[in-house]
Amino acid sequence: MTATLKHSDAITVDVALGDRAYDIIIGRDMLASLGARVAALRPGARTAIVTDRTVAKHWLEKAEASLAAAGIATARVIVDEGEGAKTYAGLERVSEALIAARIERNDLVIALGGGVVGDLAGFAAAILRRGVDFVQVPTSLLAQVDSSVGGKTGINSPQGKNLLGAFHQPVLVIADTAVLDTLSPRQFRAGYAEVAKYGVLGDEAFFTWLEKNHADLFKGSAAREYAVATSCRAKAAIVSRDERETGERALLNLGHTFGHALEAATGFSDRLFHGEGVAIGMVLAAELSAELGMISGQDAARVQRHLADAGLPTHLQDIAGFAQEGLTDADALMTLMAQDKKVKRGKLTFILLEALGRAVIVPDVEPALVRDFLKEKLARKK
Ligand code: GLY
Repeated sequence: MTATLKHSDAITVDVALGDRAYDIIIGRDMLASLGARVAALRPGARTAIVTDRTVAKHWLEKAEASLAAAGIATARVIVDEGEGAKTYAGLERVSEALIAARIERNDLVIALGGGVVGDLAGFAAAILRRGVDFVQVPTSLLAQVDSSVGGKTGINSPQGKNLLGAFHQPVLVIADTAVLDTLSPRQFRAGYAEVAKYGVLGDEAFFTWLEKNHADLFKGSAAREYAVATSCRAKAAIVSRDERETGERALLNLGHTFGHALEAATGFSDRLFHGEGVAIGMVLAAELSAELGMISGQDAARVQRHLADAGLPTHLQDIAGFAQEGLTDADALMTLMAQDKKVKRGKLTFILLEALGRAVIVPDVEPALVRDFLKEKLARKK
């Protein structure tokens, strides 16, 4: 199938949200079209680009040149790199810079960056003058297939991740697959976990395609555009049916209950990127599903094998420093899972699999069962 794929013109995915519907434009070198697309969307608007230092080094001038060529005035707001920017102080800095740049109700904020920049700039846009529109230009694979789509924006509280935020949909998403060429292989792989997630949770045929074609996607062939577009289509379909996560949107959290606990246990540090935690979490969710008799052991092993083939960590023992720290303690992991904001009234809700390619929300999973399951996995010899 890959042989028939070609780098083509833009692929457009529609996020069908009524009067807040928007397009996701996917393709190589789409950043060059930013100015023309913004001019068509919002004639006469001023813009401010929010980005971080590394992304600025690679892509800010190109984005600014595209806006300038379309006659659009823009300011730049450069934030610190990493999760540390998603704080009250970070929000204050971005908001004040946007006010100083005289971004008004009909203007546009442009988030040029990965998930942190998108969440922070999107939240600042949501509260600036009670709501200014924003455009997402995601520059990481994770942001292209997940965080830039669906309108979740926010910052962290000292008490937990993403505890302050707003649903604020972008008015346009431009996913330029060429910008992914400057990601480190590890960052790319971590984003890939979220791509594989769409296959595991809702599309076995896509998972099978990924098993065959993931190497091409890593190299940057047209398989990459196909995978990003398929992922965005899957997310757009779920978000358009359940924007506020009252039901099926929770399926997108497959692997995240375990994954967030592991991220917290490793101090949200470089020891475990978010996507790596999701990869291990997805394998644990598949194995727990098998333990509960919902899928076969072979299907759980298939999920693990593919993620490992893609170079992702898939077992707790793959986490750097696994043996030295609290990671070996099932009770500590249980406590971290109980603090996850997706937990309701102390009961553990898991996204599990009733087939490879069909995830389900399982509320009230017996904590003792999960503790025993984790103990067994923690004792696994590699
Ligand atoms: N990343 C999960 C969601 O957008 O709902």
